[in-house]
Amino acid sequence: MKVILASDHAGIELRQELVALLKERGTEFQDLGPQTRESVDYPDFASRVAQQVVSEPGTLGVLVCGTGIGMSIVANKHRGIRAALCTSEFEARMTRAHNDANVLCLGQRVVGAGVARGILEAFLSTAFEGGRHEKRVQKIRDVEAQQR
Ligand code: RB5
Repeated sequence: MKVILASDHAGIELRQELVALLKERGTEFQDLGPQTRESVDYPDFASRVAQQVVSEPGTLGVLVCGTGIGMSIVANKHRGIRAALCTSEFEARMTRAHNDANVLCLGQRVVGAGVARGILEAFLSTAFEGGRHEKRVQKIRDVEAQQR
């Protein structure tokens, strides 16, 4: 499993915390930044992660901004991305198991570091259940296919 992550300036500290967790658990990752605290635009970083997740099937993305909302809006504009904004471990487990979410979005101004670590752990350790959920995920792909 490989994780691609990025944040904007409002998510740097939480992103660093999540990088620490990925190192502790020995998970391969690529950190797309930003590396300085200068103000940046979350759509740029959301798109970089989304494009890489789409081009490398099986990888999972993690995006952090102030609320996680902007990142999730942008990521979900990309065909093939199912981004989930989570504030609890329960949501993270369910979105992997039922929605086959491939990008986790978090808000540094919303969840503390400990909660966020638990959310990421739940996201990474839960597999898509398939079965009746496969048909529903396929319907998401059908909606995407209808867009020009
Ligand atoms: C940056 O101030 C903030 O707008 C951004 O991090 C994010 O919360 C947007 O959704």
